[in-house]
Amino acid sequence: MITASTALYCVLGSPVVHSKSPLIHNAAFKDKGIDAVYLAFEPQTIEAAVQAIRTLGIQGASVTIPFKESVIPHLDWIHPLAAKIGAVNTLVNENGVIKGYNTDCDAAVAPLLSHGIENKTICIVGAGGAARAVAFGMVAHGARVMIANRTRQKAKALAKQIRGDFIPFEDMKNIQAEVVINTTSLGMVPDPKILSYPAQALHPGMVVMDVVYTPLDTCLLKTARKKKCVTIDGLSMFVAQAAAQFKLWTGIEPDQDLMRQTALTH
Ligand code: ATR
Repeated sequence: MITASTALYCVLGSPVVHSKSPLIHNAAFKDKGIDAVYLAFEPQTIEAAVQAIRTLGIQGASVTIPFKESVIPHLDWIHPLAAKIGAVNTLVNENGVIKGYNTDCDAAVAPLLSHGIENKTICIVGAGGAARAVAFGMVAHGARVMIANRTRQKAKALAKQIRGDFIPFEDMKNIQAEVVINTTSLGMVPDPKILSYPAQALHPGMVVMDVVYTPLDTCLLKTARKKKCVTIDGLSMFVAQAAAQFKLWTGIEPDQDLMRQTALTH
C-alpha cells in the first residue's frame, strides 16, 4: 500500500511514455517487499528535475534520452566510470547528496560474457551515449573495437578515445567483425523495417546484439538469425542496466527473470 512513508523513484527522459522502466522496477519493488513506487517524468529541463529530487527527497532516478550527458553538471558526485564514459543513467540521493552512476556499461558486457569478448573484433554501430558506454565496456574486457556512425566526426572522436578504429558508415558492408552491436535507434518503432547493419556482412557464427527492444525481434536480429548468427535481444541489456540500478538504490539483487517477463507481458 502507498503511504506517507513510501519512497519515490523515477525515470527522467523525453519522451518517456513508452518506457518500460516503471513496469519492471515496480514489479521488483513489489517482489522484494520494498515500500517504494517508481514513476515516469518528462521534465522541461534536467536542472529543474535534479532540483526536484533534492527538494522532494526522491530517492533515486533513471536518466534516459536526452539527459544522460546534460545531467552531469548538476550532480554532487560522479562515479569515475561514468565520468570516463561521459554519461550518467542512474542517480542516487544519498542523504541529500546526488550521485551519478553508469550501469549501461556493465549491462552491455553481461549478455556477451558467455560468448567471449577478449580479443574479439567488435563493430559498434553508433557513437552516442549508449555507444560510449558499450565501447568502454568492450575495451575494458579486451576487445578490438570498431566504431561506425552516420556522423563521421562523432565516430572518429569515440574511436580515438577508446583507441579503436573508425569505420565509415558506408564501409560496414566490407568489414569482418566477430560481434556486432547496434546502439542506434535504427530498426526501432515506428520504422521497424530498417536494418542497422548490412546483411552481406553477417556470417554464420557471428554474435549480433541489438539495444533496440521495441520491437524485441528487430530487423537486424531476424536477418542475423537467417544468416545463422547468434542473437542477443535488446531486453538483455535493458534488464541488466535496470537490475544494477535497483541494487544501487536498495542494496538488493532483483529477480532479473521477473523483470524480463514483466517487460515482455505488458
Ligand atoms: P543514445 O544515448 O541512445 O546513444 P544519442 O546519443 O542521441 O542516443 O545517439 C543516437 C545514435 O543513433 C547516434 O549514433 C546517431 O547517429 P548520429 O551521431 O549520426 O546522429 C544514431 N542514429 C539515430 N538515428 C539515425 C539514423 N536515422 N541513421 C543513422 N544513425 C542514426
